[in-house]
Amino acid sequence: MPAPRALPSLLLALAVSALGSAASRDPARDQLLTREKAMRVGGLLVLEEEEQLADQRLRALKEAEMLEAAQTGTFPPSMHFFQAKRLVERSAVFRVLQKMPKGAALHVHDFGIVSMDWLVKNVTYRPHCYFCHTRKGTMLFRFAHPSPPKPEPAECSEWVLLEKVRKGLQNVTEFDQSSLLRSFTLVTESPQVTYANQDMVWAKFQTIFLSLSGLVNHAPVFRDYIFRGLEEFYQDNVLYLELRTTLFPVYELNGTVHSLEWSVRTYEEVARAFAEKHPGFIGIKLIYSDHRFKNVSCIKKSVQTAMKLRAQFPRMVAGFDLVGREDTGHSLYYYREALMIPALHGVKLPYFFHAGETDWQGTAADGNLLDALLLNSTRIGHGFALSKHPAVWADSWKKDIPVEVCPISNQVLKLVSDMRNHPAAVLMATGYPMVISSDDPAAFGAKGLSHDFYEAFMGIGGVTADLRTLKQLAMNSLKYSALSEGEKKVAMEAWEERWHKFVAELARGPE
Ligand SMILES: *[C@@H]1O[C@H](CO)[C@@H](O)[C@H](O)[C@H]1NC(C)=O
Ligand SMILES: *[C@@H]1O[C@H](CO)[C@@H](O)[C@H](O)[C@H]1NC(C)=O
Ligand SMILES: *[C@@H]1O[C@H](CO)[C@@H](O)[C@H](O)[C@H]1NC(C)=O
Ligand SMILES: *[C@@H]1O[C@H](CO)[C@@H](O)[C@H](O)[C@H]1NC(C)=O
Ligand SMILES: *[C@@H]1O[C@H](CO)[C@@H](O)[C@H](O)[C@H]1NC(C)=O
Ligand SMILES: [Zn+2]
Repeated sequence: MPAPRALPSLLLALAVSALGSAASRDPARDQLLTREKAMRVGGLLVLEEEEQLADQRLRALKEAEMLEAAQTGTFPPSMHFFQAKRLVERSAVFRVLQKMPKGAALHVHDFGIVSMDWLVKNVTYRPHCYFCHTRKGTMLFRFAHPSPPKPEPAECSEWVLLEKVRKGLQNVTEFDQSSLLRSFTLVTESPQVTYANQDMVWAKFQTIFLSLSGLVNHAPVFRDYIFRGLEEFYQDNVLYLELRTTLFPVYELNGTVHSLEWSVRTYEEVARAFAEKHPGFIGIKLIYSDHRFKNVSCIKKSVQTAMKLRAQFPRMVAGFDLVGREDTGHSLYYYREALMIPALHGVKLPYFFHAGETDWQGTAADGNLLDALLLNSTRIGHGFALSKHPAVWADSWKKDIPVEVCPISNQVLKLVSDMRNHPAAVLMATGYPMVISSDDPAAFGAKGLSHDFYEAFMGIGGVTADLRTLKQLAMNSLKYSALSEGEKKVAMEAWEERWHKFVAELARGPE
């Protein structure tokens, strides 16, 4: 650490308290600190000797970064992720987080798990790829052969063969970067200018999934996409995933369309093939999801579909969720009749509802938190508004319902700008059960879970988050997963083995 010259006193206080070396002469004050230390996420974990060494090293790295941030005025978690990403990836703490076995990704969506770069470089270079432009400029894609895609696109230009278009271009890289890649992600150099408000960022977000669906739902791409997604998470030291998926129909080159069952079976097959080649990998489960802009009768059908799929694939299909923007979509209360169907039939269909992904206190979206609790949701997706609902919070805690915190998603979708002000900071300080996840990392320019762990560890967790916090978050991801008790035991053992290796390496210090 550079010798602090004329540091502001705030900085010195930060350094001293982070080091934990300043025993105050005030027992009452010490007692408050001790109590709060025990309350927060991971506060009750007792670290082994080697873990303590690792923790010291990690804290030294963290402190150095925070001191530097205070000196330069540049603190990545307080910046927009698109602008912070480069800095994050240079961080020593980030590199530790990449190596850390993080357990499971419990909140990720089917089309958001593979770097979009791969889609451009690999998928759009496959033969028989057509595209058209909608009136609003969204690119839609479709693979077809021997005849061009059918049906003719409504509200879209004529289908054109991508290969042919590329042949006529002077600068293909330019096209790949500025037309294709930009259709697949939200990433821009000046997000504050590009997305003036939540409506604008959501409008673009929704077009991304329209563009991706024609590419990813082509059967050969679908298989490779899943495999590739698991690879990206595995490389990031994630051993298990629960994927929210709408099971949009997958199609063949000749236009044949597959059933939902086919998609579930394919997920299962690909995950099994992946596990055979990747030691320690546990697998995946699916959370069947439908859109919250549909009407009650549609959702009644999809709840029944979820029940059927879960009966058919009990080890693969974990439950049901509703996806899409809560502020503009229907509320859980609106769907209550549909969502009561399983209970009325005495069927267990676990729910994993997105709820409270809003800044608007007291609205229907905010009220989703009440209904997620009343409908016995197994976990709560985001739960961004939970700290505004003390009664829900108390009951959901009693029922041990965790929140799935997705920091970068919340920031990119403009719920919060500075991670230090993320409401999960309150939950983390009180020890509320939580996991960290990445929602649609590829759409945000992130990968796996590490970027989100960085934001949670450095921003949300503040100065005090340490190795206990991280260990608890990783263990929570398995504990609160939909794995069976037997599967959890196996998963926990695989994770522990990796954790010990990670800790030993970290404790040993810089190579
Ligand atoms: C795309 O990736 C697959 C494997 O994931 C590989 O077999 C194929 O050759 C790649 N295609 C292109 C065009 O890069
Ligand atoms: C093509 O476009 C890329 C990206 O915009 C640019 O970096 C490159 O210099 C261009 N190449 C030529 C030959 O103009
Ligand atoms: C369409 O292609 C699929 C996969 O290649 C094949 O199984 C199916 O028989 C084909 N259907 C028709 C009608 O040609
Ligand atoms: C619900 O939506 C579906 C599909 O958009 C439509 O066919 C159906 O008529 C709607 N039902 C009601 C009751 O509005
Ligand atoms: C939720 O759990 C309560 C208590 O076990 C039960 O009475 C209620 O029917 C459940 N609701 C649903 C929708 O499953
Ligand atoms: Zn989500």
